[in-house]
Amino acid sequence: MKQAGMDQISLRLDRNRGYGIVIGHGITPCFGEWVKKVGGVGESGAGEKVGIVTHPRVMRLHGSEVIGSLKKAGFSPVLFFLPEGEQNKTLRAIDSLYDRLIKRRFERSSFLIAMGGGVIGDITGFAAATFLRGIRYIQYPTTVVAQVDAAIGGKTGVDHPKGKNLIGAFHQPLGVFIDSSVLRTLPKREFVAGLAEVVKYGVILDPKLFEFMEKNAKKILSGDEAAVLNCIKRSVADKAAVVEADEQESGLRKILNYGHTLGHAIETLTGYRQYKHGEAVSIGMMMAAQIANAVGIAKVDIVKRQQGLLQALGLPIRCPKLDPSAIINVMGLDKKVARGNIHFVLPERIGVVRVMGVQNRLLQGWVENFCSN
Ligand SMILES: NC(=O)c1ccc[n+]([C@@H]2O[C@H](COP(=O)([O-])OP(=O)(O)OC[C@H]3O[C@@H](n4cnc5c(N)ncnc54)[C@H](O)[C@@H]3O)[C@@H](O)[C@H]2O)c1
Repeated sequence: MKQAGMDQISLRLDRNRGYGIVIGHGITPCFGEWVKKVGGVGESGAGEKVGIVTHPRVMRLHGSEVIGSLKKAGFSPVLFFLPEGEQNKTLRAIDSLYDRLIKRRFERSSFLIAMGGGVIGDITGFAAATFLRGIRYIQYPTTVVAQVDAAIGGKTGVDHPKGKNLIGAFHQPLGVFIDSSVLRTLPKREFVAGLAEVVKYGVILDPKLFEFMEKNAKKILSGDEAAVLNCIKRSVADKAAVVEADEQESGLRKILNYGHTLGHAIETLTGYRQYKHGEAVSIGMMMAAQIANAVGIAKVDIVKRQQGLLQALGLPIRCPKLDPSAIINVMGLDKKVARGNIHFVLPERIGVVRVMGVQNRLLQGWVENFCSN
């Protein structure tokens, strides 16, 4: 199964729920055989009902290779199309998927393949977590955000009009298959936005990755195969290590929310249309670094180094003009709130962060400062 140029990172979890994350460039021809293996499917592959959940655009770009590989392994996948965009990551999408799964007679033994970005991954995972009280699914992520973050770790869910990802479940996939060559068709803006999540791993726990990005920003932006693969592999290993240590986010996993407290508020208040997720996270990381500096836990160098890297990658660093009270209100609805204090992940230095509750009174001033330029 493992071919040259294909690496595997294992994510170890209790109760036999661990899985492999395979990573390589141009490895999709092996996808079907790999699905057969992780799905525990017999030699023919024909007996199992497999559904691919995707957007029409992703199907047009990468469907024939994925389906070809699955068919060669004996599968006859059923296709389920969903509309694009964060604004469609809703219970309505889940409902329409349930209808179609019932119509196509999907069973407990059937499984789904999420082929797309984080939106497809989160929706498919949540449908898989809940349909028939839980069926299996596989992640075939096709954006940077999904390859380095969303597809790994079993967080699934949808948005509510009152806030992002408010409805969801933990449901681990059977495995994750990452072919970095699919990123070649990603619009530049999507590609760049995804790099914000890679910067995030650098700041929260991987100074080597941060330095690598500083030194290779141009190469990464040009889509250099080796540089991009290195970013993906390190990010996946970082994420897997955090999830292994704290699957249900009772402690360490919270650090993955670096930049997300403000980021989610910006996405919510701009109707999920104006900013890509990674762009909002980039702005959120800038505010978090400035708060860290203001409370005296990070030197100004940290703020500057992070700003330098984000700008070198072409990521936004300034907050849009939004009402500070509305921002605080939305941040207060987020899951990162405990006993009335909004919790922020704040950097101490590159590679070390801490989670801190920040009093509303202080926050008001910082948000006003940061978001009314
Ligand atoms: N579950 C988690 O742990 C987790 C972590 C991070 C982010 N997320 C979620 O992920 C979502 C963001 O994901 P995203 O940034 O991938 O956005 P997305 O899923 O909306 O994908 C972005 C766009 O890229 C298109 N696309 C996908 N692959 C393509 C390809 N190879 N070539 C061309 N176009 C392609 C899609 O059709 C879509 O229009 C958010 O909803 C966020 O909450 C979840």
